[in-house]
This record gives sequence, C-alpha cells and structure tokens, in this order.
Amino acid sequence: MNNRRKIAAGNWKMHKTLLEGQGLAHEIRTMAETELMNNAEIIIFPPFIHLVTLKKQLEGSPIQIGAQNMNQHEQGAYTGEISAAMLSSIGMNYVLIGHSERRQYYNETNDSCASKINVALAKGLQVVYCIGETLEERNDTKHFTVIENQLEALKGLSSSEMKSVVLAYEPVWAIGTGVTASAEQANEMHQHIRNVVSTLFNNEVAEGVSILYGGSVKPDNAKGLFGMSDIDGALIGGAALSSRDFIDIAKSF
Ligand code: 13P
Repeated sequence: MNNRRKIAAGNWKMHKTLLEGQGLAHEIRTMAETELMNNAEIIIFPPFIHLVTLKKQLEGSPIQIGAQNMNQHEQGAYTGEISAAMLSSIGMNYVLIGHSERRQYYNETNDSCASKINVALAKGLQVVYCIGETLEERNDTKHFTVIENQLEALKGLSSSEMKSVVLAYEPVWAIGTGVTASAEQANEMHQHIRNVVSTLFNNEVAEGVSILYGGSVKPDNAKGLFGMSDIDGALIGGAALSSRDFIDIAKSF
C-alpha cells in the first residue's frame, strides 16, 4: 500500500439548479459523515454560481469543494470569465483544469492549460489536471504520445508545486458512454503517466502524485479500479449526481 491521497471527486458539469445542488450536497454530507469509514477525500465540483452557497453549507464537513474551470489571465476585460483569485477569495480548495469537454468545445489547449495551472497554483488553489486521449487516437496507437504532450503543461513547475497537483486520466471514449476502460487498461496508462512525471520531475514526485481515473465510474466497477497499483481514485461524472452512487464509490477504497 502506498501513502498517496485517495480521492473521490464529483464533477457535476452543467447539472443541478441551486436548490437541487443544495439537496445533493446535503445528502452527500450526511452520508459521508455517517457511513464513510475510510480516509478517502471527497471533493465536489459544482457549477460556478453555486460555489459560494455550497461552500458555506459544507462548512465543518469533510467535503471539499472546487470549480470546474477558470480563466488563465489574472484579471482584465474578459467578459463572463472567472479568475483564480476570485476562486481563492471564496475559499475554493480546488480547480479542475483541462477537462476534455473544455478541450473539445472551448478550444482549450495544452498551452492554455499550462497558463491556468501556473495561475491557479500562484493563487493557492490545488489543481486537478485532466488528460486523456480520444478513441481515434487510441485506435491509431497515439494514446501514449497524446498523454505525454498533455503532461508537458506541467513543465516548469517545482517539485513542491507538484504537491498541489492531482492528475485525472479520463479517456474521452469512456466519458458518459457507459464504456469504462478496463482496470488493466487504466492502470497501464496510470503507470505510463507516472513514468512521464518521473522524467519531467523525479521519482519522488511521480510516486507521490495521486492519479484519478475518470470515465463511466460506477459503484460496481470502482472496487476493481481502486484495487490497481496506480489508480488513486476517481473523477466521477454521471454517478456523482446521485449521492448514493457517489458515496458508494467513495466507500470502495
Ligand atoms: P462520466 O462518469 O459521466 O463518464 O464522466 C466522467 C467525467 O467526465 C468526469 O469529469
């Protein structure tokens, strides 16, 4: 057993009105406080406009909270955007960066992700950096190279900054499709990621960084995934919208 942090993170994406979100957060809190006996960390990533309310609601609970995105600029004339400093100022613990939906629909690149990561860390946020290949890239056996390029966004960080970074491997073909990478397939990539991190930094950083798997994680496949040597948790989409499923996944470590 290693001593990396074990994490169950729920990405709510563009789901839940404020009232629905408050209800879900309440259920998650109650279940986590009464049922969760392992030392798994629980993080939720609700939509921006719910963050202040839910942060207050979850005060004194073991649930941590983060934003699903942020802008790479420190401040300025960027209508509709949210900065790292704003997220810090409302007590956010985490920010998701580089989710495949942001890369796919909002043209996020490894370069813009690199800028975001640097600004986020400078403002005291912890980063969950998402990487993952498309089906086409896997079929062309480019998946390892794609991941290596995405990890280049970490270049230039210090080893101590890497303590505030969590990686999430989310193969695009497994997101919201019901198709999960097999535990072995996922672990193979997690080991590759750790090797790349070791090359970019050193072995200590590579062994210390938590790497989450994301893509159709459900209560019935979580145990198999978490049993693998290099899978330290999950970034959960659909199943995180059900308090029961989310907590059952968190109980699977
Ligand atoms: P699903 O769990 O719905 O496949 O989503 C995964 C994901 O994108 C989490 O960020």
